[in-house]
Amino acid sequence: MRVKIVCQQPSQDILSHLLSCPDENGKYMSELLIANNILLLLFAGHDTSSVTLTLLIKTLAEHPQVYQNILQAHIEIASSKKEGEFLNWDDIQKMKYSWNVIAEVMIITPPILGAYREAIVDINYEGYHIPKGWKLYWNTGLTSLDPEIFPNPTRLEPSRFEEAGPAPYIDARLSARLNQEIYLEITYSK
Ligand code: HEM
Repeated sequence: MRVKIVCQQPSQDILSHLLSCPDENGKYMSELLIANNILLLLFAGHDTSSVTLTLLIKTLAEHPQVYQNILQAHIEIASSKKEGEFLNWDDIQKMKYSWNVIAEVMIITPPILGAYREAIVDINYEGYHIPKGWKLYWNTGLTSLDPEIFPNPTRLEPSRFEEAGPAPYIDARLSARLNQEIYLEITYSK
């Protein structure tokens, strides 16, 4: 069930938002729901980020020139800051090369192996019949390592995302495909 949370004032953070903002009927979220939401964010945000960072560091160790490029770009950004001044959103927007490298890392070594879905209609794909209601597991590597989507998928090429390169949102691309229910290279079980 979806409810709209209504808040008169800007919240300090997500926890204070969930605690202090009622829904459109004036009802506050239960403690159990708030705890569930926070645990979801902790899990979804922590493990994915830490695994991606680990894979990034491994990749940079294997590609010293790419590491040097990132270092140089960050030194330039740091040199534009006053002593003690924090990075802000504009600085992060300048880190395009770093972002392209991370997008590459997520293609070559996807931090998420896949996830479950349920077929909401009968699906026929490449001779396989998947009845409505069956559980499916989509696999990230089978999409990101498909050379039709990313040529030379196992080669680190941060430049592929420059100019008119593919959008660096592999998960969004996967979701789009999944929503069409056609990219199911998958084991399934009932
Ligand atoms: C490299 C970092 C990340 C990767 C690779 C990643 C990947 C994904 C994927 C593949 C899904 C879809 C899961 C599914 O539909 O079954 C997902 C959902 C989600 N992610 Fe991330 N994520 C990352 C970072 C984060 C961060 C930092 C946050 C929040 C702080 C976050 C919050 C969420 C939430 C709330 C969902 C929806 C979960 C749901 O619908 O049950 N993610 N993420």
